[in-house]
Amino acid sequence: MNTLITFSDLRAARLSLKGTVGLVPTMGYLHEGHLSLIKRAKEECKHVIVSIFVNPTQFGPNEDLSKYPRDLERDLSLITPLGVDLVWTPTAEVMYPSGYQTWVEVEAMTQPLEGSMRPGHFKGVTTVVAKLFNASQPDKAYFGQKDAQQAAVIRQMTRDLNFPIEIVVCPTTREADGLAMSSRNKYLNEAERKAAVVLFRSLSAAKELYEDGERDAEKLRGKMKEVLAAEPLAQMQYVSCADYDSLEELSEIRGKALLSMAVFLGKTRLIDNFVLG
Ligand code: PAJ
Repeated sequence: MNTLITFSDLRAARLSLKGTVGLVPTMGYLHEGHLSLIKRAKEECKHVIVSIFVNPTQFGPNEDLSKYPRDLERDLSLITPLGVDLVWTPTAEVMYPSGYQTWVEVEAMTQPLEGSMRPGHFKGVTTVVAKLFNASQPDKAYFGQKDAQQAAVIRQMTRDLNFPIEIVVCPTTREADGLAMSSRNKYLNEAERKAAVVLFRSLSAAKELYEDGERDAEKLRGKMKEVLAAEPLAQMQYVSCADYDSLEELSEIRGKALLSMAVFLGKTRLIDNFVLG
């Protein structure tokens, strides 16, 4: 396994890879969710490139960039047994040298949900992912359903900019009690960690209504809010029942839909979602 930092080293190493290449972009502090993406890439591609870069441009001024957990040594020890060819760990200076001024922005789809709570977030995500795509020239790139809006925005960017890359969206990996795995779970204290299962319970309750035939989106949003409100440690930021592709809020569910939410447990902001249909 080769660990590289600069664009020129990555390009040289990429040229030596013959056959299909899968890219797994991450911000490190890897958990089973990230590893499931790497394993899937390994199954489907001859070669796998993993990038580890805590991208400063996708964090807002009041977000957790400086505290975001980092442990490269541990990450490398988790990746090594998986048979990854290249690990790319660019620095902020490599990615955004002084004088940097070019951005990639997806419009309507980045406005609701995470976009409305985290202005500028998706502009940072799409810019860095476009740069990762250009530098590593993968055939396939792997993203998690856990970040449903991110996956939708990247699919849109890939179509709009004609990247010849297949976007593969992998299922959310969960803890035994249903909590979606996330690098941010490490911020939760014991009581918050127990309470955090309320996101999964709330999504499950709404899904149950859907499976019983309910198609009124407002009823599903109401059910999610009701379950969240019963957990005193949880502070809802938003709940949504939206069209799966456009992410527009629905009144009636006809096709594929996305139930999603952002919830604070103390100072920690968690997101989760289920796909319906
Ligand atoms: P990060 O949060 O490190 O996540 C990297 C990838 O792992 C994303 O595609 C994310 O959706 C996926 N992932 C996270 N938790 C998961 C889980 N429990 N199950 C399955 N997949 C999971 O997302 C980012 O980094 C960044 O925005 C990035 C795309 C790397 C751009 O900077």
